Amino acid sequence: MNRHLISAGDLSRDDAILILDTAEELASVEGRAIRKLPTLRGLTVVNLFYEDSTRTRTSFEAAAKRLSADVINFSAKGSSVAKGESLKDTALTLEAMGADAVVIRHQASGAPRRLTNWVSGRVINAGDGTHEHPTQALLDAFTMRQRLSGPGAGASGVGPADGPASGADRRGQGLDGIRVTIVGDVLHSRVARSNVLLLSTLGAQVTLVAPPTLMPHAVETWPCRASYDLDAELRKSDVVMMLRVQQERMTAAYFPTVREYRRRYGLDAGRMALLPEHAIVMHPGPMNRGVEIAAEVADSSRSTIVAQVANGVTVRMAVLYLMLGGAAEETS
Ligand code: CP
Repeated sequence: MNRHLISAGDLSRDDAILILDTAEELASVEGRAIRKLPTLRGLTVVNLFYEDSTRTRTSFEAAAKRLSADVINFSAKGSSVAKGESLKDTALTLEAMGADAVVIRHQASGAPRRLTNWVSGRVINAGDGTHEHPTQALLDAFTMRQRLSGPGAGASGVGPADGPASGADRRGQGLDGIRVTIVGDVLHSRVARSNVLLLSTLGAQVTLVAPPTLMPHAVETWPCRASYDLDAELRKSDVVMMLRVQQERMTAAYFPTVREYRRRYGLDAGRMALLPEHAIVMHPGPMNRGVEIAAEVADSSRSTIVAQVANGVTVRMAVLYLMLGGAAEETS
């Protein structure tokens, strides 16, 4: 694995499967009375968040603490960033405090890559602008593998399942042949970009569906298909991943009205019925209920939204464990 985790495209298939398999291993800690391992004792993980987050920040914090690391939470709001301090000077300050890993979320695409020039510890991208969110893609892949591998899986070992496979059965598997449809505001979505890169590395067939105004211009260079016909794609999907409409990043009118967007690209119960029986519904959160996803869909038994959050902790434990050199130690 690379020294830093900036892009899902940095991960080879073997790297990605190692992370997913390690997360399976670490998930067993969740069932214990004491959910803590000594693996990262004495190491310091800094959560450096310049942009709002609920899931990613708390799950990196929980992951680091479950591995016994010391955690420093740094939020731009209420810090010297408000007085004009640059990312470089903040990074040098954290470096002086001995950060072994810096988990960074920033509104500017490319900020995590810049940070690698200024700190000696590992840098993990927790979402940068409209660029990437690699650990979200990893937890999404973990959730797909968990839900879609099982006794009914195809020859590849992964496919529509009759029932959940045990963690041991899933180990070593990618997502070969799984059909994933990612729907919505692809243009502004770092989650979509990271998922396309990671899922294609793992052998999945990815299709992006968006209004023409919210489809990236160079999408033909991405390792996926693009389509404007959501209903046709749903009928042949194993996974549908709904994306948040990111109104805070929109600088123009990308669709006429929310009602029109919902009618063409929203997932309601009627549309969900077009999916094959085994298919699952995903959303990275936070959701706009009633816009890209109806409440009845988000709360349905096909929805993996809560499982994705839970899996985020174990997948991030695996990333920290592998990147901070814990692999040489015992996990039990
Ligand atoms: N999915 C995700 O990144 O959520 P947060 O913005 O809450 O971290």
